[in-house]
Amino acid sequence: MKKKIYISDLANYTGQEISLQGWLYNKRSSGKVQFLILRDGTGYLQCVVFKGNVSEEIFKLAETFNQETSFVVTGKIKSEPRAVGGYEMDVKDLKLIGTSFDYPITPKEHGPEFLMDNRHLWIRSKRQLAILKIRHRIAKAIRDFFDMNGFTLFDPPIITPNAAEGTSTLFEMEYFDLGKAYLTQSGQLYGEAGAMALGKIYTFGPTFRAEKSKTRRHLTEFWMVEPEMAFFDLDDDMDLAEELIEYIVQSVLTDRKSEIEILERDITKLQSVKRPFPRISYDDAVDILKSEGVDFQYGNDLGGGDETIISGKFDRPVMVHRYPAEVKAFYMKRDPQNPKLALAVDVLAPEGYGEIIGGSQREDDINLLLERIQEHNLPRSVFEWYLDLRKYGSVPHSGFGLGLERTVSWICGLEHVRETIPFARMIYRNTP
Ligand code: 4AD
Ligand code: MG
Repeated sequence: MKKKIYISDLANYTGQEISLQGWLYNKRSSGKVQFLILRDGTGYLQCVVFKGNVSEEIFKLAETFNQETSFVVTGKIKSEPRAVGGYEMDVKDLKLIGTSFDYPITPKEHGPEFLMDNRHLWIRSKRQLAILKIRHRIAKAIRDFFDMNGFTLFDPPIITPNAAEGTSTLFEMEYFDLGKAYLTQSGQLYGEAGAMALGKIYTFGPTFRAEKSKTRRHLTEFWMVEPEMAFFDLDDDMDLAEELIEYIVQSVLTDRKSEIEILERDITKLQSVKRPFPRISYDDAVDILKSEGVDFQYGNDLGGGDETIISGKFDRPVMVHRYPAEVKAFYMKRDPQNPKLALAVDVLAPEGYGEIIGGSQREDDINLLLERIQEHNLPRSVFEWYLDLRKYGSVPHSGFGLGLERTVSWICGLEHVRETIPFARMIYRNTP
């Protein structure tokens, strides 16, 4: 790869004359001097154009630069603790690459709908850049964590013939002569096949829910990482979940300090995300709600508001396990101590961010699984392959799904998941 110099490399170039390329982020001028703030995706650099140091032509050219004009700038780098990023360039030469007029996103305040309509440009702003870099770091932490721990990446199909997570949120399509097919809601069922082959696998990719809910936690297209492990019970599953979350948060704190600062995120709230996480049963969670005066009907699923109250009791994520089987998916194993309960776990993030992980031990008995498929009115024929996993060397196994966008939203301290993914898909938005 041809070596190019980026703003993030400037420590190696102090005192040297170099060329950089990028876009104009901002500009100030005072008669004899113009300050151009260059951004190149890796950082920001104040480029100082002194009338006395450049030709009249170059000085005039600088005057024509607007927000997002692209250009090449050449000059000497010096360290300047008062400037953004700690460096400054004494400009010697400038070359215009692409003009920019009337850039729609100005430093003034814009409403969220306007910004979302201009998402293709909004991602150039400082805050959005910080979020996208943290998202990347989180995705990397996830991959590193599983790769270091002996898991194999296992890519499930996106087009599937059956539901994995309830039939009400399926995106449907006609699939040639084969009838209806659906966009995957979860790679889990395929992940189970993978775990029986490879022992420990993880899937990591986009998943789809035709969610009717318009909340700050719901997207119709979101990324999920789903580990699945043979010979893991629910306790093993919870151990893995807390280890993963601690690793993700601590990786971001170590490697994305300046982005966290740009977002003005209170890091003390993240520093306390250390194992062990509290583990409470659904019954304990209901007791908390009752003691807070919530009129909660035992047996219902926890709503977003309930989750906020429960997680508000703890300074780190809390794991709620053993939910009423009725509100959970067909594949979950029942608790041998109380068959009304499913061996499920939801991990609730602190500060009202709600459920970031849903997981369970899986039903490994073929007859019980068949009963569940019938109870849920699911067509047996498309699950024959899934039943085979219980026919040929069935073993106890468990897994979970962690939603990437909700995790990013929590770690970044955002209002809404729409800012956590480059181009959000929601019930009322599929553009740009
Ligand atoms: O709880 P869910 O539906 O679980 C599953 O899909 C299981 N098959 C996972 C497994 O055991 N392998 O979803 C898991 C996580 C949620 O906790 C949440 O973080 C995220 O996926 N999620 C969503 N994120 C954004 N928008 C939505 N509409 C989401 N639905 C789920
Ligand atoms: Mg869930």
